[in-house]
Amino acid sequence: MAKAFAWLKLRVVFAVALATVKLAHGDEAEEMRRAEELVSARCFLCHGAAGESSSPLYPKIAGQNAEYIIKQLRNFKSGERQSNDMRKVAPDLSESDIKALATFFSRQNTSPGKSAFPEMRAIGEKIYTNGNPATGVPPCMKCHGEKANGSANLPRIAGQHTLYIETQLVLFEERRRTNDNAQMQEVANKMSPDEMRAVAEYLSGL
Ligand code: HEC
Ligand code: HEC
Repeated sequence: MAKAFAWLKLRVVFAVALATVKLAHGDEAEEMRRAEELVSARCFLCHGAAGESSSPLYPKIAGQNAEYIIKQLRNFKSGERQSNDMRKVAPDLSESDIKALATFFSRQNTSPGKSAFPEMRAIGEKIYTNGNPATGVPPCMKCHGEKANGSANLPRIAGQHTLYIETQLVLFEERRRTNDNAQMQEVANKMSPDEMRAVAEYLSGL
């Protein structure tokens, strides 16, 4: 009797576990479906269907870290990070839309960019790994990681468009990107325009 009861309990536990797994899968499929719907309706025109952003005017978001995407979308929505383009789409996104989009884009394949200036890339690599000790520019690698993949809250900057990286560095320097960015403002403050260009060339080619 005790044995039969234990068997029954095991079966119940198993059935519940199975149902939970199914539910989790269903939720995830539903989340991806919602994300794809949002992307084709509201993001596709600028960032492409998979975040590949073939135009250098728009940042690549394929393979970007999910936590970082969530933060940026919340900041565009609240106006803490300003952008005339993102202002048109971010305010209507719900918290669950933001999470679905972040999961979706973080899972897309990344693509290396193109850089036509090998000499500049070599200088950029030096700045990336060693900074500029003479002027106090810290090594970017310290925070963004050896391969520029970032981490949960830090953006991946490998393969990003040169123009976008340069523009963001200038926005940090001029305190026009102010969504909780004291660290990057300080870094950019110490950089010369040539250093910004060189590091952007290096990163876009990764
Ligand atoms: C009209 C063009 C346009 C549309 C549509 C658009 N974006 Fe953007 N997006 C931009 C531009 C331009 C930037 C860079 C803003 C800046 O200069 O700081 C950007 C930045 C971003 C960033 C920050 C990237 C980073 O590396 O910090 C994310 C994330 C993002 N967009 C997601 C989305 C999502 C999700 C959608 C759809 C809901 C969307 N965008 C729709 C133009 C657009
Ligand atoms: C002390 C840590 C730290 C160092 C050193 C650092 N960064 Fe950053 N960087 C950050 C953080 C944190 C962010 C994300 C800010 C946010 O959440 O909006 C960031 C964001 C950026 C962005 C914006 C990316 C995007 O997708 O919009 C660029 C570009 C960038 N960093 C380039 C550099 C370069 C180039 C260097 C070296 C010269 C560097 N960083 C050094 C911490 C650092």
